[in-house]
Amino acid sequence: MSAPHLAFVLAAGQSKRMRSKTPKILHPCAGKPLLRWSLDAAIAAGARPVVVLSPEIEAAIREILPPGTAVAIQSTMRGTGDAVRVAVEASDARGGEVFVLYGDTPTLSPSTLERLRALRAERGAALALLTAKVGTENGYGRIVRDAAGDVQRIVEVRLATAEERQLPESNLGAYAIDLAWLRDAIARLAPNATGEVFFTDIVAVAIAAGKPVAAFCTPDPGEGMGVNTRVELAAAEMILRRRIREKLMLEGVTFHDPESTQVDDTVRVAADTVIERGCVLEGATVIGADTRVGPYSILRDTTVGARCIVEASVLEGATLEDDVRIGPFSHLRPGAYLEQGVGMGNFGEVKAARLRKGTKMHHFSYIGDADVGERVNIGAGTITMNYDGANKHRTTIGNDAFIGSDTLLRAPITIGEGAMTGAGAVVTKDVAPGMLAVGVPARSIKKAEKKIKT
Ligand code: UD1
Ligand code: MG
Repeated sequence: MSAPHLAFVLAAGQSKRMRSKTPKILHPCAGKPLLRWSLDAAIAAGARPVVVLSPEIEAAIREILPPGTAVAIQSTMRGTGDAVRVAVEASDARGGEVFVLYGDTPTLSPSTLERLRALRAERGAALALLTAKVGTENGYGRIVRDAAGDVQRIVEVRLATAEERQLPESNLGAYAIDLAWLRDAIARLAPNATGEVFFTDIVAVAIAAGKPVAAFCTPDPGEGMGVNTRVELAAAEMILRRRIREKLMLEGVTFHDPESTQVDDTVRVAADTVIERGCVLEGATVIGADTRVGPYSILRDTTVGARCIVEASVLEGATLEDDVRIGPFSHLRPGAYLEQGVGMGNFGEVKAARLRKGTKMHHFSYIGDADVGERVNIGAGTITMNYDGANKHRTTIGNDAFIGSDTLLRAPITIGEGAMTGAGAVVTKDVAPGMLAVGVPARSIKKAEKKIKT
């Protein structure tokens, strides 16, 4: 059996170039903290991560770590070489392979890591690293090759000569390494003229010891790019968002004008659903099949069933069963639960309320903290007055009730099955099943006694 595969993910450092009070690796990127991308890529490639953190950020970062991630603390930022030494000392695995990754490379793909692993095995190399030809206007370490084309060392831009800075190939900073060899070799890294220990010097250490080094130069633009500034953060986010949309398209989701829509990595969409232009799909959102979302809708942590239509609306923490129609211009807030066939139209808001099967609420209404039965009609301008200034109260409306236009329902209140309210009623007392409540404040009368003139 092969030894367990590890990934050392470096995430200490000061991230000064972000000019932010938030640590760089906690900045969101396509719906996940930056650091999660490197960790998730390592896990997807079959490795167990050991993340190197500085003591100041440890507590904040522990919260976003995937289960099973080990933590090693680098107490003083002495450079990436020192950070790897900390990880080596914190792990007790002796043999096998380790990926050394940086916490600021969100576009690094699991398939690239697998490629590095395969390349190292194929060449019998101590180390395989990821490179790219991305021009010379960047801060990446430069790859120095000998006349035969073999990698000799990496020179950091800060220490490079003008000539070395023009070298066409850059270090993207992902490495697959023989762990037993690394345990021994890490002690041979020394501080350089900047006072830091650069992990990149590990290549020269390998070459000096006669160990082969392999490099995979990715042809994929943007793959494994480093994020040191907010400009690079935005560029990486664009790449990730394009990949997320393309994956969904290949799974059968149609996007109208894909560039105008942003979808988090955490969102799931079923086949034959259409996402129209200008949508934002965030968090734990799940969308069923044959549904149409947009144009211009925001869905956050929301579950949408099959065959729904959600047009120009904002849905947060809501659940829609199948065949629900929302919008345009509806707002669903946390705890809104719309059962099958519910229809909700212009300028409606629902919060912490269940609308049962077939209920319609088409215009200008607010339903909060409520349980609304099946086939209820909520007339235009109906408001549940759920808040008395101190507490929230619930409204219950029975099946087949008909709530007239402009009804105010002062909670706590129950409207019985099949009951009705007249237009403009201010209902302050429960209405029994089958009764009609009219007036301000409303009084209940038997429906049959009252003929509504039309
Ligand atoms: C590094 C590489 C560079 C490569 C680039 C790719 C080195 C010396 N340079 O440069 O060759 O082209 O990444 O993106 O490795 N960190 C620690 N402890 C430290 C210092 C840094 O954990 O003492 C962590 C940081 O949090 C970061 C990662 O290591 O996630 C890389 O550090 P960073 O300062 O971003 O290095 P780059 O200048 O980008
Ligand atoms: Mg970096």
